[in-house]
Amino acid sequence: MSQSGIGIAVTGSGSAVPIHSLDNDKLSQIVDTSDEWIAARTGIRSRRLATPEESLTTIASQAAQGAIAMAGLTPMDVDLIILATSTADDLFGSACQIQAELGAQKAVAFDLTAACSGFVFGLVTAAQFIRTGAYRTVLLIGADVLSRWVDWSDRRTCILFGDGAGAVVIQANDRDRLLGFELRSDGTQNQYLNLACQPQPYDLLEDLTIGRGSFQPITMNGQEVYRFAVRRVPEVIEKALFRANLTVEDVDWLLLHQANQRILDAVGERLHIPAEKIISNLASYGNTSAASIPLALDEVVRSGKIQPGDTIAASGFGAGLTWGAAVFQWGR
Ligand code: ACO
Repeated sequence: MSQSGIGIAVTGSGSAVPIHSLDNDKLSQIVDTSDEWIAARTGIRSRRLATPEESLTTIASQAAQGAIAMAGLTPMDVDLIILATSTADDLFGSACQIQAELGAQKAVAFDLTAACSGFVFGLVTAAQFIRTGAYRTVLLIGADVLSRWVDWSDRRTCILFGDGAGAVVIQANDRDRLLGFELRSDGTQNQYLNLACQPQPYDLLEDLTIGRGSFQPITMNGQEVYRFAVRRVPEVIEKALFRANLTVEDVDWLLLHQANQRILDAVGERLHIPAEKIISNLASYGNTSAASIPLALDEVVRSGKIQPGDTIAASGFGAGLTWGAAVFQWGR
């Protein structure tokens, strides 16, 4: 429990994905690959892709509406909106557009960028605002439309990513359901995964050249990212469990960023967590970055698989590099 005596509880979830899907066979018409290769190396079979009309704001707002409704609240009850994303519709941030779309006039809203760790970083950020007594109800959304930034001629990356949004409502609670967390960053390994600004020289004056905005597509060293995830994720989960005064045996569900089934399996193996406790939906959606954890969470909550009080070890990892884990119990 925090010094203020205020705990937090995750009381609602929601999710939304674009209508159009692209399966591995169709993807094989775009790049030289196959369903067999992609499924064997990643576990991914299909992904959802946003049309130009389906903005990040649209799917994020839909996910948010589901979470607010499940929590039994209205948008006017929300004090703070945190949008974890790397693909905002507007570089200045998209959280305020979502606030307007929802009609959550009382809420302050901002974006948070920590790539595929964004949801876990956002959960911990939300908890700090609640534990200090500053806010009582936080809407946390993880949403990304990476399809806008993928090089669709690069078979090493385009097979991995999909678009989606997930959201949770986090509320002040007598009992603290966030049991432990650990967050990490290492900018020295930034080169392994990025979506970097690539300024084009623009002669503003004869003696003044500035850089004009454009971004290079996602670039990734797959093997290094794989090695990083398999090494660092078990470590950070163990640390969060230690802070929670729990052991791996206490974990009911392992909820990892849905990057690759091989990463999920390897982390489960290292932690000795059996496959039936590992939540996985990446076959249908691919890697949806900041959306992947709340999207998977919402599916298992709505299916009735996760019950109130179940202990979830969640871990996000990705660009930055960033990684982190949060151990929490579902519900009040
Ligand atoms: N289809 C067919 N063949 C392919 C494809 C493809 N889509 N992509 C690569 N290949 C080929 C390569 O050209 C190479 O051929 P070669 O041996 O003739 O040169 C061969 O397959 C092996 O390539 P590798 O890059 O070594 O393949 P690897 O086994 O490492 O698998 C993968 C690649 C799936 C990307 C893997 O490295 C991985 O999963 N890494 C983690 C990536 C990840 O999860 N990133 C996101 C996490 S962070 C975030 O979410 C933002």
